[in-house]
Amino acid sequence: MKFFIDTANVEEIKEINEWGVVDGVTTNPSLIAKEGRVFKEVIEEITSIVDGPISAEVISLESEGMVEEALELVKIHKNIVIKIPMTDEGLKAVKVLSSKGVKTNVTLIFSPSQALLAAKAGAAYVSPFVGRLDDISNPGMNVISDIAEIFDIFCIETEIISASIRHPMHVVESAKMGAHIATVPYKVYKQMLKHPLTDIGIEKFLKDWEGLTK
Ligand code: E4P
Repeated sequence: MKFFIDTANVEEIKEINEWGVVDGVTTNPSLIAKEGRVFKEVIEEITSIVDGPISAEVISLESEGMVEEALELVKIHKNIVIKIPMTDEGLKAVKVLSSKGVKTNVTLIFSPSQALLAAKAGAAYVSPFVGRLDDISNPGMNVISDIAEIFDIFCIETEIISASIRHPMHVVESAKMGAHIATVPYKVYKQMLKHPLTDIGIEKFLKDWEGLTK
């Protein structure tokens, strides 16, 4: 399974990337706005840190505008993936962009039927939002599992990014359900790392070592 980091904060990306566990980055307009920086500058800086797919989202709601924005964004770096919202206009843009060899990540997916349409239109990635589904008492993991099953039956190459991850169990369950990628927030990376028994174990090893006659 691949891990992307779900943030636009370059300090967070640098820190987790040093662990050797970042295969790519996803951003969205809310994450970029949180940084209070110029959009293209942030994306450019991220491409200099991580050598993998970097998702940058378009703002237009019409396909022509989406394509125009996308073609500007891909000039930043060869690793840019264009994030497109799951709408009819979005699908039109995905079709055009995939015919030009531009990779797209269709975002705001909440059902297997949406994922199927996005894949059919030529998306390289689909992003089902598990956390936001759980928030409305609709188990997000069922959607991941259904999409994985369908893509497997038809040998669909579109990769599933499990998104809107809220805690480590979302990552573990996504892996079990067959998501190719989990896009993990900084906080969740930290939670995944920690186990109290690891800390207790280190403390005991060091204490025992101190008692040794050297
Ligand atoms: C996905 O690519 C999105 O950036 C992200 O996972 C959304 O997560 P949220 O529901 O926590 O905003």
